[in-house]
Amino acid sequence: MPELVVTQNVDVPGIDKLDVYRQYGGYEALAKALHEYQPDQLVDLMKASGLRGRGGAGFPTGMKWSFLAKNNMPRYLCCNSDESEPGTCKDRVIMERIPHRLVEGVIITSYACNVTTAFIYVRGELALAARQVEQAVQDAYAAGLIGKNILGSDYSLDVIVHRGAGAYICGEESALMESLEGRRGYPRLKPPFPAVVGLYGGPTVINNCETLATIPPIVANGAEWYASFGTEKSKGTRIFSLSGHVKKPGTYELPLGIPLRTLLYDEQYGAGILDDKEVKAIIPGGSSTFILTPDALDTPLDYESVAAAGSMLGSGGVIVMNEDTCIVGAVLRMSEFYRDESCGKCTPCREGTFWMTEILERLEHGHGQMKDIDLLLDICDNIAGKSFCPLGDAATTPVGSSIRKFRAEFEYHVTHGHCMVGPGSQQHQHVEVLDAQPAAAH
Ligand SMILES: Cc1cc2nc3c(=O)[nH]c(=O)nc-3n(C[C@H](O)[C@H](O)[C@H](O)COP(=O)(O)O)c2cc1C
Ligand code: SF4
Repeated sequence: MPELVVTQNVDVPGIDKLDVYRQYGGYEALAKALHEYQPDQLVDLMKASGLRGRGGAGFPTGMKWSFLAKNNMPRYLCCNSDESEPGTCKDRVIMERIPHRLVEGVIITSYACNVTTAFIYVRGELALAARQVEQAVQDAYAAGLIGKNILGSDYSLDVIVHRGAGAYICGEESALMESLEGRRGYPRLKPPFPAVVGLYGGPTVINNCETLATIPPIVANGAEWYASFGTEKSKGTRIFSLSGHVKKPGTYELPLGIPLRTLLYDEQYGAGILDDKEVKAIIPGGSSTFILTPDALDTPLDYESVAAAGSMLGSGGVIVMNEDTCIVGAVLRMSEFYRDESCGKCTPCREGTFWMTEILERLEHGHGQMKDIDLLLDICDNIAGKSFCPLGDAATTPVGSSIRKFRAEFEYHVTHGHCMVGPGSQQHQHVEVLDAQPAAAH
């Protein structure tokens, strides 16, 4: 079992409480950061560690911090804990089980970026996670870890926990800021980027929850230690949320570069496919990433290798579908999600996600025509690259990639009126990706 970074000690009873977290070295990284580092040195430390954002795009964290505009406006930090990408439940594990690691990461990052007010934006549905983070922040205030003159230093910080109201689009960084400012969660035009004009017009750093929870171990153990995990370009570890037809779904922290096959089949992780069936399809990084087929099983799970295999590491939400899965049904399920979550601001996404779902629905239920399949691809072309924010692109990903890889299944639905797989062929399996439970953290 590899050494863990973000989820280290997550199984220790009571680690969600401040005293136990401190018994296990908690907040020592904060003391080290405040007393041994100037803010700029922490930015350099992050650059040297090779840490890349875990929210989806994998942008280098230290570089992002160094982009903050140098002006007289107040600076802000937003922790993105909106975690709504289907198949993803890693931030939830951090917040529910070891919330102080996140809070410590928020304080260190705020110090490194000269921020005096930080926000933690928690997905509305994650009630327990929000309560845990709120309690952790409250306890940290009481212990002098947040507030005025933290740990006797001249650095002061306020941290505000904000609960979202259940909109996937509010995970997009500019919509998140709109929401925090009290407006409807519509994405903003970029540029300007948040590092220049962000929350309340000030330079703002927005990082994912897992990204921020990785900061304390890096400060405690050094950039070289962190960079010793993973591959040359994808350094460190990341938490994979494994869901779908595996024997042991759950959250597993692993060094980047571990083969997809190991995550699915190793007894410590997925432990193989349910009922010992064959794997049919894998979505490697949340529903917004391109679907892969079993020939990609030996792909190392790092940013570059997954991209070379034709997909993206995204949020680390690995969704597994076995041989009995109806791809048309699975894609319809995902399409409904994007239709419901489209914010409606721009026409290609608002209209396109609606029509894609309508067409998929008639294909799924045996009322489709052969020309519907190319019509779906045509709609994808009219959304991707032509929408206001990346949600539009994301909505086309499951549809386009599944037609390219499983076209025969779509055609079978047209010619036979039902799917080609599963017992009795009409009782196909639907993979439930939205309700993945954080069953284990290893
Ligand atoms: C539709 C949409 C939803 C997103 N949802 C999330 C989310 O739930 N959590 C997250 O950290 N990033 C999400 N992102 C990415 C954020 O915009 C942003 O890139 C990220 O929070 C940056 O953090 P990082 O650099 O630490 O990865 C989403 C992006 C889009 C387009
Ligand atoms: S692409 Fe979709 S989610 Fe993004 S702004 Fe347009 S309608 Fe809203």
